[in-house]
Amino acid sequence: MFDNLPKFTFFTGKGGVGKTSLACTTALSLAADNKKVLLVSTDPASNVGQVFATDIGNKITPINNVENLEAIEINPEESAAEYRERIVGPMRGLLPEDALRSIEEQLSGACTVEIAAFDEFTALLTDNDLLSRYDHVVFDTAPTGHTIRMLKLPGAWSGFLEEGKGDASCLGPLAGLEKQRDRYAAAVDRLSDAETTRLILVARPRQSALAEVARTSDELAAIGIKNQQLAINGMMPTETGGDPLAAALLKRDEDALEGHDPGSCRLAA
Ligand SMILES: Nc1ncnc2c1ncn2[C@@H]1O[C@H](COP(=O)(O)OP(=O)(O)OP(=O)(O)O)[C@@H](O)[C@H]1O
Ligand SMILES: [Mg+2]
Repeated sequence: MFDNLPKFTFFTGKGGVGKTSLACTTALSLAADNKKVLLVSTDPASNVGQVFATDIGNKITPINNVENLEAIEINPEESAAEYRERIVGPMRGLLPEDALRSIEEQLSGACTVEIAAFDEFTALLTDNDLLSRYDHVVFDTAPTGHTIRMLKLPGAWSGFLEEGKGDASCLGPLAGLEKQRDRYAAAVDRLSDAETTRLILVARPRQSALAEVARTSDELAAIGIKNQQLAINGMMPTETGGDPLAAALLKRDEDALEGHDPGSCRLAA
């Protein structure tokens, strides 16, 4: 799985399946192989900092005691505050206080929080100066629903900006949208380029989990993310030492994989 990883690798899957464990292991393995690695958490409840006992937060931070590895935890609220300041900052001293406050208020809703975090995410996919510093960017993501939405947004927003319709007041002044449109289009291109992006769907060895992961796979393939791989995490070890409970758990795991028709999963690679 770790061979020939492209520039971007995403780990996705349901809550608690092992996304963070696999993303951190992958990042460590690449860094040990002398590759420059950026580990990005897009999970608002990231625990990557905890895993590495390093205070990370919303800025790129070298990981304690690990050469070649840096990380960032995208924090939607902090991203939104920075985004607001980028827009309001230059107007300070030019507009009256109450006008500034009203703009800040307009840029404080859930829509701005989402677009700001997403803006940061697309910057990490498209900022060539930044990307030239790394051989690999590994993404640890939030549980499936949040991530599907995030991966769909570049396409959705490109369409929205293309049509120029709808209420964009949460974006702030419309100036600069042209630049954003180019960036979102570039993000869509990178996500759907199999040479550049691989998505690793993580699941536990359970029938229902595999059926669900197949649906996620289809949904992401439909938006062009076709370089996909399935990682089964947490298989019961085959050495059960004669323990009947361990043997029963192993059988359950094996049955789940056995009964599963990999063809129906339609996972590439
Ligand atoms: N193969 C494994 N064997 C034993 N424990 C594991 C294994 N994989 C993960 N765990 C443990 O399961 C828990 C959840 O793992 P992890 O945090 O990697 O999952 P996650 O998918 O990132 O969860 P979340 O959706 O909350 O972000 C952690 O305590 C982790 O140490
Ligand atoms: Mg996690």
